[in-house]
Amino acid sequence: MTQEHAVYEESTVEITDKVDIEALAAVYRRVHAADLHLLDHSIPTVEERLIWTAEAPGFQAAVGYVDGEMVGTVMGCPLPAETLWWRDLTDATDPDLAVEWAGRTFAVCEAFVLPEFRKHRLGVRMMSDLLGQRPEERVSLAVTETNTRVWGALQRLRFEHVGDLVPFPGWRSHRMLVRALPLSASR
Ligand SMILES: CC(C)(COP(=O)(O)OP(=O)(O)OC[C@H]1O[C@@H](n2cnc3c(N)ncnc32)[C@H](O)[C@@H]1OP(=O)(O)O)[C@@H](O)C(=O)NCCC(=O)NCCS
Repeated sequence: MTQEHAVYEESTVEITDKVDIEALAAVYRRVHAADLHLLDHSIPTVEERLIWTAEAPGFQAAVGYVDGEMVGTVMGCPLPAETLWWRDLTDATDPDLAVEWAGRTFAVCEAFVLPEFRKHRLGVRMMSDLLGQRPEERVSLAVTETNTRVWGALQRLRFEHVGDLVPFPGWRSHRMLVRALPLSASR
């Protein structure tokens, strides 16, 4: 099931539950070309990660296109009660933070835009188009602790840092962020 929102003449954001894994993996490798040697980007492989997300119940993606070319995505899934999303979280202050139930949290598992198409608000557009029609109470995502630019931008969108974890063995530590939905609300 897909739905199209044309906002700028040359770019579109498609909300979909079916994605082309091979095409997305190719975009991902261009996005992270300088860091592909890191375990964060190689084990598990990007294809494995994209497939896990795309096959999760309730999966949904915003896929961005410029002049018909796929240039990025924001994609994720609702967290089930038995999720491993919060495993090994450190420094969390709220004891209920990691308790999940149906309808509580939408997890953004991947967010990327090709470098040459950045800073045209496509990232924010995909995020708000995707999350704008989600029924969950909150959204969570993980950002590498060294990714200070994206971390700063997400703070401006009022995402809150709730703790840290290492998503897979050998990866860099990630900041875990949470924000109440809808995005238009002040809290
Ligand atoms: C994060 C990302 C998807 C944003 O895409 P985008 O289309 O450039 O995003 P937007 O144009 O909507 O900008 C969103 C904010 O990020 C900031 N930003 C994004 N990339 C930036 C960069 N390389 N340098 C400086 N600021 C950047 C923008 O300035 C903007 O902040 P503002 O709202 O305070 O002005 C893109 O930078 C990316 O793919 N980065 C590499 C992968 C990554 O880090 N993903 C995030 C995982 S959580």
